[in-house]
Amino acid sequence: MNIYLMLCCNMLTPPIFTHITQAIAQHGYCVMDNALPANIAHALHQHMTTIPTKDFRGMGVGRAGQLHIDQNYRSDTSLWLDGKHTAEQDYLQWMEQLRLTINQDLFLGLFDYDAHFAHYAPQSFYKRHTDAFQGLSNRKLTTVYYLNPDWLTSDGGELVMYADEKSSNAFQTVIPQMNRLVVFLSESFPHEVLPAHKDRYSIAGWFKLKANP
Ligand code: OGA
Ligand code: MN
Repeated sequence: MNIYLMLCCNMLTPPIFTHITQAIAQHGYCVMDNALPANIAHALHQHMTTIPTKDFRGMGVGRAGQLHIDQNYRSDTSLWLDGKHTAEQDYLQWMEQLRLTINQDLFLGLFDYDAHFAHYAPQSFYKRHTDAFQGLSNRKLTTVYYLNPDWLTSDGGELVMYADEKSSNAFQTVIPQMNRLVVFLSESFPHEVLPAHKDRYSIAGWFKLKANP
């Protein structure tokens, strides 16, 4: 790519994508408020909160090659985005722009993106875990996007992040406030979701490397 083209690309990248990319490069994670345009955030909230509860599934946790639902470990329910609704399309398009910026600036080789709506009914939680283990997963970068207007600290449901496998002290506690986006390297940060006292809505997603053939 020549200098002129490089300058053009960088000028066309909205500052928010550059900001997230720089935070990932420096710290491995980013917490961003007012992340998506307000109209998309609102449409996603509207859409997600009107999907019938019966469409959400308990999350399987693989044990000894079997898929079973372990409610002591996590008790959220989820539904994969299929991109049929316009709000989903807008969300996925925004994430595509983020993917391209990160690949352009950090050469991470992000190839694909999967995301699901996650609903935590009151008292639901997700115990401490890591989203990907080196060499065992092609998940590279996690996104968590919150859809909870007027969430109070007293409502619980915080995302608690730890610096590495050994640490038991949290370095970040994130309140799942509307239009807040967390992005982090999937292998680097163990994390957990504390029990929420009211319905907690989010979209969890993973940018993935190309799977080995
Ligand atoms: C996950 C997860 C965090 C959150 O879905 O893997 O850790 O804050 N979610 O919802
Ligand atoms: Mn996780």
